[in-house]
Amino acid sequence: MTELDLQDLTSALSLYTSFFIFLVVLTFAAFIILMVILIHNIKSRKNPKNNRQFIEETIAVQEEERRRISQELHDTVSQNIKALLLTQKEVKDHCRDTNLLTELEKIISLEKKNQKELRAIIQNLSVPALASIPFKTVINDLCEQFYAQSKIPCKFFVDPDLSLDTFTTEQKHHILRIIQEALNNTRAHAKTEETSVVIRKISDPQKNSNLIRIMIFDDGLGFDSEKQMAPGNATSHFGMSGMEMRAKLLGGNFSVNSSPDTGTEVQLELPLQ
Ligand SMILES: Nc1ncnc2c1ncn2[C@@H]1O[C@H](COP(=O)(O)OP(=O)(O)OP(=O)(O)O)[C@@H](O)[C@H]1O
Ligand SMILES: [Mg+2]
Repeated sequence: MTELDLQDLTSALSLYTSFFIFLVVLTFAAFIILMVILIHNIKSRKNPKNNRQFIEETIAVQEEERRRISQELHDTVSQNIKALLLTQKEVKDHCRDTNLLTELEKIISLEKKNQKELRAIIQNLSVPALASIPFKTVINDLCEQFYAQSKIPCKFFVDPDLSLDTFTTEQKHHILRIIQEALNNTRAHAKTEETSVVIRKISDPQKNSNLIRIMIFDDGLGFDSEKQMAPGNATSHFGMSGMEMRAKLLGGNFSVNSSPDTGTEVQLELPLQ
């Protein structure tokens, strides 16, 4: 073998070695990418909150159950209370004993209170006709209902030039449930004198487009929202996670800011349709 042949052989060998090393690095990189994709898939399957189909199914089951319960309450307990009130009125009309009459009046007034509370529960479970009523009116009615039931004034403000009827019925449904849950939380936990629902158009400088920002806030007791909203915080309370899931389906940003000093603000930002 001549010196020239040896040089050719060495350069061919080094070419093959470089090619081999390149192949090994490529295979290793492909392996790493595959592993990352696999781990991400397993994680998102483990965390069903990120799975769109799971969220849609959970919310659909929840809505169907609410519809069924409100129908059952209307057809059974509500009808029974009506019948009881009629009977009680008849007995009262024929009663001559004044002591008994006073007791009967107490029973009737308690029964009427039950009827009012039951109506409020049924109203809360069902959803108004979103396709035919302007959405601003629907939200305004919700605030008025809230005040009638809780005696907590609910201020409603929406930018006058903002139309909320560009949302689909399904989107309106999710938005309404989020506002409803935030108001229910105010009533149940905040011990506040007043609550507000404010809807504004804001600009998103990053995307050079407009957003709708929906805020529901109170200046009540507040709570540790960072702890409550932390990912993986398993809790038996479903209101917050329900709002988060609906916001995800709407493709919006959802946040809750709360502290004992400032009260609570629930915020939902949606792309303007
Ligand atoms: N506006 C608020 N003011 C004060 N605390 C609040 C407010 N909203 C939520 N919280 C706190 O956050 C917790 C979680 O709220 P979440 O709506 O998830 O559950 P919940 O209202 O207790 O039960 P539910 O499952 O019936 O909604 C509440 O238990 C309460 O401690
Ligand atoms: Mg709640």
